[in-house]
Amino acid sequence: MIPALSVKHAGKTFKRQNAEPLEALKDVNLEIKAGSIHGLLGPNGAGKSTLISLISGISVADQGSIEVFGLDVAKQTQAAKQIQGIVPQEVVVEPAFTVREVLYYFSGMYGVPAGERDARIDAVLKDLALSDKAEERARSLSGGMKRRLMIAKSIIHKPKLLILDEPTAGVDVALRQKIWELVRRLRDEGTTILFTTHYLEEAEQLCDRITLINHGRIIKDGSLKDLQQEFSKNVITFELYDREATALSGVVADGNAYHFPMTDLAKDMRTLTEHYQSNIKSIRSEAVSLEKIFLELTKD
Ligand SMILES: Nc1ncnc2c1ncn2[C@@H]1O[C@H](COP(=O)(O)OP(=O)(O)OP(=O)(O)O)[C@@H](O)[C@H]1O
Ligand SMILES: [Mg+2]
Repeated sequence: MIPALSVKHAGKTFKRQNAEPLEALKDVNLEIKAGSIHGLLGPNGAGKSTLISLISGISVADQGSIEVFGLDVAKQTQAAKQIQGIVPQEVVVEPAFTVREVLYYFSGMYGVPAGERDARIDAVLKDLALSDKAEERARSLSGGMKRRLMIAKSIIHKPKLLILDEPTAGVDVALRQKIWELVRRLRDEGTTILFTTHYLEEAEQLCDRITLINHGRIIKDGSLKDLQQEFSKNVITFELYDREATALSGVVADGNAYHFPMTDLAKDMRTLTEHYQSNIKSIRSEAVSLEKIFLELTKD
């Protein structure tokens, strides 16, 4: 199956006045499976938005190639753009137009057939809870509503690849939940989603796969479970009341505590509780959070 996104050896360097050129992306390789939600994470300045601007054809890579559903972004730019929806990091709206006019304009630009436009507009207005704002000018919307309008614009043509650059930055809890629901629903309907976030909890909740980027390089790529497994200590730690209890194969003493290598949490817990029974004073396993992994990987 053709991947939704295939980035190969992509590089981007910015020329700067009175400073050395800045290599914002270095040999970036990334593949996203169609129908998945993919999170792109990294500290400020890591290169996330730069990568997004290359994928969406806003700027051009200096090295490498980028394909969206098999379409080369540098050579088949228009066709590649038509199947994408993009929500940039900065909020931009067309202030003088009403919400409906904005959506009408974008539906035409993205080639939604004239006979289907009104129905599509009503559908996305409903999806983003903007129906009662349809006739208001974009400038009169609140910040959160502007962000919703940007998302509405980006999905008006049912894109195959939807790219959201920090869609939930500065939005309230209820709206975040709504955006999550929408993202999940779009994925279930077949849209592939690439999004960036600084909320690691959000990535844990939503993503099928996660890519960590730092200083313009991809430093890790995998499912949350892969990452957790790689970084977990894979041990169960416990304490006993009676330290003279018969040893269990695999258990190692460490000060007052004992460690047991973990393979399957439920099974291992059962083994230990059956062996030591009420002798167990405390027992825990450490599930590493994405936050810990992130901090570990991005510390300089
Ligand atoms: N047009 C530009 N000219 C010069 N430097 C740029 C330009 N755009 C981005 N950069 C630099 O490239 C690096 C990557 O920036 P980018 O916006 O991709 O980061 P980011 O990962 O999206 O960060 P954030 O989380 O803050 O949005 C930064 O050092 C930034 O200053
Ligand atoms: Mg950014």
